[in-house]
Amino acid sequence: MKGSAVVEKVIAEIERYVKKEMGEDPTGHDWHHVDRVRKNALLFADGEAAGDRNIIEMAALLHDIPDEKLNKSAEAGRKKLDEFLDRLGLEHTTKQKINEIVYSISFKGGNGAELPSIEAKIVQDADRLDAIGAIGIARAFAYGGKKGQQIHAPNLGIRENMTLDEYRNGKSSSINHFYEKLLKLKGLMNTETAIKMAEERQLFMEAFLTQFEREWDCLL
Ligand code: ADP
Ligand code: NI
Repeated sequence: MKGSAVVEKVIAEIERYVKKEMGEDPTGHDWHHVDRVRKNALLFADGEAAGDRNIIEMAALLHDIPDEKLNKSAEAGRKKLDEFLDRLGLEHTTKQKINEIVYSISFKGGNGAELPSIEAKIVQDADRLDAIGAIGIARAFAYGGKKGQQIHAPNLGIRENMTLDEYRNGKSSSINHFYEKLLKLKGLMNTETAIKMAEERQLFMEAFLTQFEREWDCLL
């Protein structure tokens, strides 16, 4: 890639764009989520002593821009990212690397496909880390509320091996989402630093769920 002054300018431009597009999203996909993903991704890159930091930073900043949940369709999201990357005037290979990361990292029901690069593994870990722990709990209920699902629905069974359509559109509750996705994320982390950070967050979510059940059952 080009010199560091140029990279800094490109990153500042991406930041401006992402703030404008997702700044105050109420579902947990706001600018602050993106900024934490960027910061944690750079931490994991340090821990691994691997990966192209510029590519990691750009992909982390852009990772939710084409997300089908946040756009009219997957196609509309793809078009939006394409047009922005074209406007940035990046080299073709840089654009390709960013696209490869952004489109490979989503959980989408947990398909578990092998990722194409260390950069993708790092950005995926940072995105997943932000879905667990105290922040993850807050985001799950924010997303669930926006989606119109209940906080807890004891009669709804926990789903295993969902298709993407079932994962996105099937009936669930925010508490079920912990068992269907969030508690599994620790075991799916790629990098040492993320695995370490996930441990404390996992314990916190487990303690939260235990307390939630006690209160739900009106136990003394
Ligand atoms: P993906 O959409 O691929 O699962 P994301 O990282 O975009 O991955 O998910 C973002 C956030 O949305 C996470 O914090 C996750 O907990 C939340 N989320 C997704 N589906 C649900 C759901 N059904 N209920 C509650 N939260 C959800
Ligand atoms: Ni995200």
